[in-house]
Amino acid sequence: MALYSEKVMEHFRNPRNVGVIENADGVGEVGNARCGDIMKIYLKIENDIVTDVKFETFGCGSAIASSSMATEMIRGRSIEEALGLTNQAVTEALGGLPPHKVHCSVLAEEAVRAAVKDYYDRQGL
Ligand code: FES
Repeated sequence: MALYSEKVMEHFRNPRNVGVIENADGVGEVGNARCGDIMKIYLKIENDIVTDVKFETFGCGSAIASSSMATEMIRGRSIEEALGLTNQAVTEALGGLPPHKVHCSVLAEEAVRAAVKDYYDRQGL
C-alpha cells in the first residue's frame, strides 16, 4: 500500500486556497515545535459564515494537504461548524494519513481554531 493516499497527493500537488487575505477578520498561526512546521489560516467572516479562507503553510506535504482540505471543509460553513472541525475529520477526508503524520492534521484543526478565536477577540466576544 502506498504511504500516502491519492487524495493526500492530489491536495499536496494542487493545494486549494493558498495565499493571504489582506483584510482578514481572523488570522490563526500555529506551529509544531518538534518538526518546526508552521501553518497560518486567514478567515473572512460575514454573518457568522466563513465566506473566504486562505492558508500559508511552511511545512511538510501532509501539512499542506491537511490545510488545503481543512480550508475546503470550512468554506461556506458557519463559525460553529468551523470550530467543530476535527483533525480526524480532515484525516478521513484525505483518505487517511500515516500514524507519524497525524500531527500534521492536528495543526490544521488548531490553526482554524486559532483563527476563529482571533475573530472572536477582534469582535470583543
Ligand atoms: Fe510536522 Fe507535518 S511533519 S506538520
